[in-house]
Amino acid sequence: MAAKNIKAIKILGIDTSCDDTAVAIVKIKNQKSKIKNFEILSNVVSSQVKLHAKYGGVYPFLAKREHQKNLPLVFKKALGEAGLLISGVDFIAVTVGPGLEPCLWQGINFAKEIAKKYNKPLISVNHIEAHILANFLSEKPENQQTRKPGTIFPAVCLVVSGGHTQLILMRKIGEYKLIGETRDDAAGECLDKVARILGLGYPGGPAVAKFASLGNLVSKKETKFPINLPRPMMYTKNYDFSFSGLKTAVLYKVRERKYNKSAMAAEVQQAVIDVLIHKTVKTAKDFRVKSIILGGGVVANEELRKQFNWKLEIENWKFNLFVPPLDLCTDNAAMVAVAAFYHRAKRVKNIKAEANLRIS
Ligand code: KG4
Ligand code: ZN
Repeated sequence: MAAKNIKAIKILGIDTSCDDTAVAIVKIKNQKSKIKNFEILSNVVSSQVKLHAKYGGVYPFLAKREHQKNLPLVFKKALGEAGLLISGVDFIAVTVGPGLEPCLWQGINFAKEIAKKYNKPLISVNHIEAHILANFLSEKPENQQTRKPGTIFPAVCLVVSGGHTQLILMRKIGEYKLIGETRDDAAGECLDKVARILGLGYPGGPAVAKFASLGNLVSKKETKFPINLPRPMMYTKNYDFSFSGLKTAVLYKVRERKYNKSAMAAEVQQAVIDVLIHKTVKTAKDFRVKSIILGGGVVANEELRKQFNWKLEIENWKFNLFVPPLDLCTDNAAMVAVAAFYHRAKRVKNIKAEANLRIS
């Protein structure tokens, strides 16, 4: 039976978990149907990259100050781009964690203020879950939640960002089990640190990717200094990761002064990709899932996206592979709005920042 199309709802999401000030408005049609249709009305991200580039990393108190300054402007811009007044928004949603505590509080206090002033319900969102659910926002029909949930779940999610590298088993939306995670540096953090060691630029992930594309043009045989870096914990039986050894291996090579920057960037990127793909596919096989769902800033890496697709093709699998569009991989608030949609019935009285919030 065709689902009735009840009034669409609009959710305004806010994310200030790290160094991006993000506000977005998402419209949800078919809210009562199992098959959802999301439309991004606006998705504004004010990046603090230039500010933190000077220091080669994010300074929480500097980031907090920027959020405070930017939030009213980004909020106004998001409403303007959506062609809405705040009265046209049904819910306010905000990331409460995980993230940098002083930064999270800026978003939370701002969200509380508008929710109170305009009498709107306030929903708290887990940033990791938002990265996963970003997949259901895409324009691509296979990524919109136009599939029946039974054809998607169970799924294994790889969330790979600046602060996290986690493998999460997802039985349905809202039901997660953490299977494995990094024991030290996150994959994005490793790329950021390697970029700093090699002097490639900031933020590190895109900088490594840029140099790697040059490095990949030179075959290992041709280069004067062939580099072979370790793939830490790639073949261990568990589902955990470790990336700090990779960064240390780069540091040793740099001290020996026998390296080429681009070749090094290509090898580091490939080592990270090898480990991420191998462990995710192992988890998918071990737990007999129907889908692999990717999320987080590192998934913006073109080579990682390409090689995940190849791997599934080579293995001739019937898995669904969900990969968010580039702008929904890195931090944004559209993903916060969609996560809030699924938790709109849950009301937390005293919303507070939870820097180390877990998913399960
Ligand atoms: O999800 P995200 O925007 O913020 C966090 O929640 O941490 O992820 C940021 C991370 C950074 O480490 C950044 O270097 C990495 O994602 N990143 C990339 C690319 N774009 C961003 N890593 C590899 N290739 C990229 N194109
Ligand atoms: Zn993130």
